[in-house]
Amino acid sequence: MKLSIPEFIQKKRDGIPLSAEEIKTFVAASLSGEAPDYQVAAFLMATYFTGMTLDETANLTRAMVDSGERYDLSKVKGVKIDKHSTGGIGDKVSIILGPLAAACGLKVPMMAGRGLGHTGGTIDKMEAIPGYRAVLEKEEFVKILNDVGCAIISQSATIAPADRKYYALRDVTATIECIPLITSSILSKKIAEGAEGLVMDIKVGNGAFMKRKTDAMILAKTLRAVAKKAGIELRATLSNMDQPLGYAAGNALELYECIEILKNEHINPYSLSSVDLKELTLHLCAQMLEIGKIVKNLAEGRKLAIQKLQDGSAWNKFKEMVKAQGGDVESLDEPWRYMKSEKVIEIKCKKKGYVNEIQSESLGRLLIHLGGGRNKVGEPIDHSVGFFFHKKLGSMVKSDDTLVTVFGKNNTNFTEVEEKIRQFIKIGTAKKTAPKLIIEANVK
Ligand code: URA
Repeated sequence: MKLSIPEFIQKKRDGIPLSAEEIKTFVAASLSGEAPDYQVAAFLMATYFTGMTLDETANLTRAMVDSGERYDLSKVKGVKIDKHSTGGIGDKVSIILGPLAAACGLKVPMMAGRGLGHTGGTIDKMEAIPGYRAVLEKEEFVKILNDVGCAIISQSATIAPADRKYYALRDVTATIECIPLITSSILSKKIAEGAEGLVMDIKVGNGAFMKRKTDAMILAKTLRAVAKKAGIELRATLSNMDQPLGYAAGNALELYECIEILKNEHINPYSLSSVDLKELTLHLCAQMLEIGKIVKNLAEGRKLAIQKLQDGSAWNKFKEMVKAQGGDVESLDEPWRYMKSEKVIEIKCKKKGYVNEIQSESLGRLLIHLGGGRNKVGEPIDHSVGFFFHKKLGSMVKSDDTLVTVFGKNNTNFTEVEEKIRQFIKIGTAKKTAPKLIIEANVK
């Protein structure tokens, strides 16, 4: 079919539903170059404003899957269940969850992303490990899944190339927060990677793409409906993102926090705790185990996950995976080898009171400004910079308590960073109740 690209964009701009054929032709044209980036960007913006019907979203997802290769994981023995998050600040769950679910008996083909907008990405965090290879050929991916049980890899050039293009363009054209675009982006990768089931963690709050629960519910339902059409069982949890998850934000620091949980050891010198991170990881693991039929119910799944964390199986699985993907396993026990920040300062509270607001998205942007994320596609990042948050929403603070530890470089403008952090974390006199971590455990 000969498609007039300007008319196609106009149709979307005016909210007229697009046919499967039109979408398929446009996706192909955006990869061949027939539709240059400015037309693709216009389409993304038109979609941002006028949205898509469920059928259009499913057709876009299909066309994005068909833009590349589909992995055949039939040679991987076992049930293949993946997990994906819509992204937040300090959201490092996947790094613990992949090996944990594999230690419980699942196969976890985890194709993860890099930072998007103000949020961090699992692959950037894993690449803080010296030597870690996130880009694997399909054969190696299959071998690691069979031998180890999990692999955390980045999207290869052949998997949903249309998503790679749209993801990069959305990141720089203010078109990320759009339900049909998020749905097609996530599901095109998951369908192409060969997952049989998917557990979604949909973040809601000031550090998430979905700021309101009502939008997050629509996203959850859209993801479920489109996944069902593709034959994938999808479970969706809504979790709070009004504050960073766990205590660390920043690539190497987040890896350190994950290692602490995986080792089941208290290693951080500040007695910081990761109760929320661990709780969410256990919840999502139980969901994965239930849909993978490793356990009969969530309670059993949770019990098994706790056991595999406590007996060291998850930690061993993580090390096996890192080794198989070329990472320096010894460095995992020697944090100074991957946490290479040059200068560390502590920001102290100036008065007593309660933490009653944390502007998480602004903290994510500050991290990018320090070098921990990207402003342009493909920019190198600095894994070493980041923050340790000593207080959570609702925490009582006294003057001189440490609020945040900042890990920076010799040339970091710490005065500016401190000013901003004081602006983004508000201390008040009235105690506000801390938000519930799991907002919806299983969206139907
Ligand atoms: N994760 C993705 O892969 N895509 C999005 O659009 C958002 C989160």
